[in-house]
Amino acid sequence: MRRVVCPGSFDPVTNGHLDIISRASRLYDEVIVAVLINITKKSLFTVDERIEMLREVSAQYGNVRVDRFHGLLVDFCETNGISAVVKGLRAVSDFDYEMQMAQMNYSMAKVETMFMTTNPLYSFLSSSLIREVAKYGGDVSGLVPEPVIGRLRARLAES
Ligand code: PNS
Repeated sequence: MRRVVCPGSFDPVTNGHLDIISRASRLYDEVIVAVLINITKKSLFTVDERIEMLREVSAQYGNVRVDRFHGLLVDFCETNGISAVVKGLRAVSDFDYEMQMAQMNYSMAKVETMFMTTNPLYSFLSSSLIREVAKYGGDVSGLVPEPVIGRLRARLAES
């Protein structure tokens, strides 16, 4: 079985992420979306909430599974029989860091990285920008999946 992991923080999932996940689901038998548990980084949504949103918006793809991991991505790959990582590249500015991580992951465990160019519609998108725009009442419709809009409103109303 050709299995690939799509790792990230997904705080929250954006339409850019979903575009990469859906395109990877057409290329691989199974896509595992893996949410990084990072207790040192302050997040808007808990890991459980991020996973719920990801499950809801990826349910339409029959071969996408959502999971969580901590520690090294290559260890998660080994445990789950995954030989490749899929990453979206938005712009040249993404390249340096992604290249470093890809080479480190290959050097540690021979885990390959497949780069997919982001849909130009979403090339300016990031979860951090979504959080910032939503925080000040900006319109993020069309940039994040519908269920995420409601969750953002509810979370920001709490603060
Ligand atoms: O959405 P993000 O926060 O940009 O995703 C970054 C992520 C989770 C893909 C990256 O930080 C990662 O793989 N972290 C796991 C720790 C690890 O394996 N580090 C070594 C990478 S070379």
